[in-house]
Amino acid sequence: MQTQGEISYPLTHATVVRVISKMPVPSPESLKKKGTLVRIRQGCKFFGLDPEASGTGEVIGSKDDEPGWTYVRFGNSFKNRYRVGTPAVDDGACDLELDSRETQAYAVVNYGGQLIEAPITGFTVEPGDIVKFSRDPLRVVEVEKCVASGDIAFVTQIMDGGIALVDYKGGRRTVFAGKFAGKLEENGRVVLDASGSVIIDNFGLDDDAFAVDEKSLETVTWEDICGQEEAKNRLRDALEKPAQFPTHYKFFGRRQPHGGLLYGPPGCSKSMFGKAIYQSMIRTCRAKDLKTSQGFIFVSGPAVLDKYVGVSEATIRHIFAKARKFYARTGVKALIFVDECEAILAKRESGISSDVLRTIVPAWIAEAQGIQESGAIVILATNKPEMLDDAVIREGRVDFKILIGRPDRKAAREIFVKNMVKQKIPVSETTDMDKLADLFVSELFSPARKIYEITRRNADGQDEQVSFTLADIVSGAMVPAIVEEAQRLALERELQKAEPSEGIRPEDVTAGVESIYRQNSASDHETALRDFTHDFADKVCGVRKLVQAQR
Ligand SMILES: Nc1ncnc2c1ncn2[C@@H]1O[C@H](COP(=O)(O)OP(=O)(O)OP(=O)(O)O)[C@@H](O)[C@H]1O
Ligand SMILES: [Mg+2]
Repeated sequence: MQTQGEISYPLTHATVVRVISKMPVPSPESLKKKGTLVRIRQGCKFFGLDPEASGTGEVIGSKDDEPGWTYVRFGNSFKNRYRVGTPAVDDGACDLELDSRETQAYAVVNYGGQLIEAPITGFTVEPGDIVKFSRDPLRVVEVEKCVASGDIAFVTQIMDGGIALVDYKGGRRTVFAGKFAGKLEENGRVVLDASGSVIIDNFGLDDDAFAVDEKSLETVTWEDICGQEEAKNRLRDALEKPAQFPTHYKFFGRRQPHGGLLYGPPGCSKSMFGKAIYQSMIRTCRAKDLKTSQGFIFVSGPAVLDKYVGVSEATIRHIFAKARKFYARTGVKALIFVDECEAILAKRESGISSDVLRTIVPAWIAEAQGIQESGAIVILATNKPEMLDDAVIREGRVDFKILIGRPDRKAAREIFVKNMVKQKIPVSETTDMDKLADLFVSELFSPARKIYEITRRNADGQDEQVSFTLADIVSGAMVPAIVEEAQRLALERELQKAEPSEGIRPEDVTAGVESIYRQNSASDHETALRDFTHDFADKVCGVRKLVQAQR
């Protein structure tokens, strides 16, 4: 490595584009350096003069009182003095040239868009490396060890000569493939260096950007989802049965669905379905000895949305290319689950980031169309189906649209018991699980927990009051929250004792429901209210909020 005296500071960082090897132009210093391998230059006065001085010689040194001259030994014995090209001696005549073994490695670095060739001595560099180099004398000093950070781009075309066309920040540009030349995949993800011109990492199509982290994902099976029988059936029909009963499907000429839409109010198990589908995919993949992470592509709509026009489209093409690759390699259809899909597939004229959506939706449709031949199943999930672009979800593009609705009494009861059991929450001896569950349901669906008072005119022209209650906004997600609140209250009480002795009492459950009611009655429920008044919309005379939002 260089010493401090030889190189200029500060050093500059640059990205290596190419590494080449070539003969350096000899300098007088290099020709005087002991050990340098040289030859006598053709055409100079010493050439061919001494038969012993043919071939390669080795510099043995120079004398201070003989500037411009160096001593070279040929073979074991013959040595002579030669001019090194110092301007003061014979107008810079030089008798020597470097031997081919003196070829030097050079890094072609990209420095602020400028390509600079700098010699490398004593270590190796690879294209894509970030190096420190000195500008005077020009040389690569060392390879930067830090992990290079850069921006993600998507390969659109692989070209000859170590060049690739990429989508980067919404634009198209050519970049150096660096050490990944020959290894790039179309639509694959790559990382560009800070100047955006050299590929410094290649994730390809097998990257884990959309893979599910199995460790962090709670295991959800079909059985964990309470109620929602129709949705379960339809999804299993789409995902599992065609493989289980191939002859039946063939008999009826029924093809496997390409995909569908799950829609419904927040907190009612759409995302749970994503996880259950993942478990189902794991079983399919394990049976065939495949890596599930490549076949289950979990996409969160907001995560795909990018502020740069073009990036989201590139991400979408990447996702579908990944699915096609999986299918081509394994014969198993990949599954693309797009949670909160309204973030990217909203109506184009909706005014929400309209510029971005105007191009994402057509890109989506083009890819989704293509996937029908290449094999993947796409499941979309949203709690705002009215926002989705009609073209995305028209018949033929999605095979089924399933409402994942609010839990009914039976399902809510089941979710309650499941959560109590799963968390091993003790029940007071004064009651039992069945009684608590019954109480929970009657409290949750109680007509007394009113949120809005709606005045409607009946057929006789009389005004009558209808109540919009907690039951009208019940969600599956509310249930674990209530269980947790009841558990908290019971714990508070038991903390008064030296040893805990009693589990959850009925009043804890009631208080839990009451607490959720109070939290919810403070906020607005426009969508639920619209659904509620839908059937008698023209007869509504007034809506009164019973609890005002706290300011
Ligand atoms: N049918 C159900 N069975 C069991 N638990 C449920 C059910 N529905 C909801 N839950 C509970 O509610 C939580 C939230 O559900 P999930 O995340 O699937 O809702 P979502 O429909 O995706 O909501 P959002 O539209 O807000 O994304 C789950 O983790 C689970 O604890
Ligand atoms: Mg969700």
